[in-house]
Amino acid sequence: MPYSKYILGLKDKARLKNKTIVLPEGEDARVLEAAHIIAADNIAKLIILGNKEQIQSFFAEHNWPLDGIEIVEPETSPHLGEYTKLLYELRKDKGLSQEDAAKLALNYNYFGTLMIKSGHADGMVSGANHSTADTVRPALQIIKSAKKGRMASSCFIIVSHDKPYFLSDCAIVINPNERELADIALDAAETALKFGEEARVALLSYSTYGSGKGDAVDKVRHAAALANADLQSPEYQGLNIKLDGELQADAALDKVVAAKKAPASDVAGSANVLIFPTLEAGNIGYKLLQRLGGCEAYGPLLQGLNAPVNDLSRGALVEDIVGVIICTILQTK
Ligand SMILES: CC(C)(COP(=O)(O)OP(=O)(O)OC[C@H]1O[C@@H](n2cnc3c(N)ncnc32)[C@H](O)[C@@H]1OP(=O)(O)O)[C@@H](O)C(=O)NCCC(=O)NCCS
Repeated sequence: MPYSKYILGLKDKARLKNKTIVLPEGEDARVLEAAHIIAADNIAKLIILGNKEQIQSFFAEHNWPLDGIEIVEPETSPHLGEYTKLLYELRKDKGLSQEDAAKLALNYNYFGTLMIKSGHADGMVSGANHSTADTVRPALQIIKSAKKGRMASSCFIIVSHDKPYFLSDCAIVINPNERELADIALDAAETALKFGEEARVALLSYSTYGSGKGDAVDKVRHAAALANADLQSPEYQGLNIKLDGELQADAALDKVVAAKKAPASDVAGSANVLIFPTLEAGNIGYKLLQRLGGCEAYGPLLQGLNAPVNDLSRGALVEDIVGVIICTILQTK
């Protein structure tokens, strides 16, 4: 699969950030090839977790240099004791014993997350061989939400005809309430800004401005009102965010439909951040775009955390992993 112009553009921005990304799945050939591509192109420094001898011989077999790549075996790492202590301190109030902390720190997803918390890496990409829950749980527990009390959520970057769309939440929050949906919309807007785009946010529904009825419609309309009220606060002043809802997907994306259904909206017809009312809608929606619409899909990228930890689909191709690593670099501070 060739990379879109969009991802190639992000690659150059990522290189300038000079970051270190940890890849906990050193046993996976796709991850190793993606690491080689990133390192050979000087996009970032990488730390691969896994068996040193096996990873070194895999690189040697393919004639790939290991410049810019550090291989760390958690079991023999000089930092293991420090990470175990850190994990225990962070989680002892949640009932974690020292014994369990020692076991958990050896789980590669926890080890990688503890590297970020300790400042030894800037972000992590995992999930080629782990479920979303196993990949993101350490991040939710250790890295934590950037805004206290606010849920982290996720975003997919969908590239259609070299244009990025930010779709949220397709992977984390199963059935957000009005407040949570408003927060997802605001965090997705900030994700779009981080990638250098304006944020024109549409909260999607089966109704446009009251054309349909039901509790689900009310939830989306109220969430849009909450988010728009928040946009008036000093925190969001000066940010290029416009937000509207409830809107149907055609009204959000198509200028002709928007002119009929929501002529006064400054988002309808040109939305680039699409907010789904539930995880069910979002997850089905992005997969339809990817499988039937021929779009590239990068993510889920977690948003709202203190540092980026991103998940991969278990069916991810090498190109997908490279793309998610690049996106992760863009999300770092
Ligand atoms: C993300 C997810 C895995 C978290 O589930 P979990 O690990 O069982 O979560 P728990 O409720 O046990 O919470 C674990 C910790 O994470 C925190 N947490 C959970 N969800 C969070 C969120 N969205 N944002 C921030 N923190 C969160 C909890 O507060 C808790 O923290 P604490 O232990 O310090 O108190 C869960 O929401 C989920 O399964 N989502 C759907 C995933 C999925 O199937 N996606 C579709 C495929 S991509």
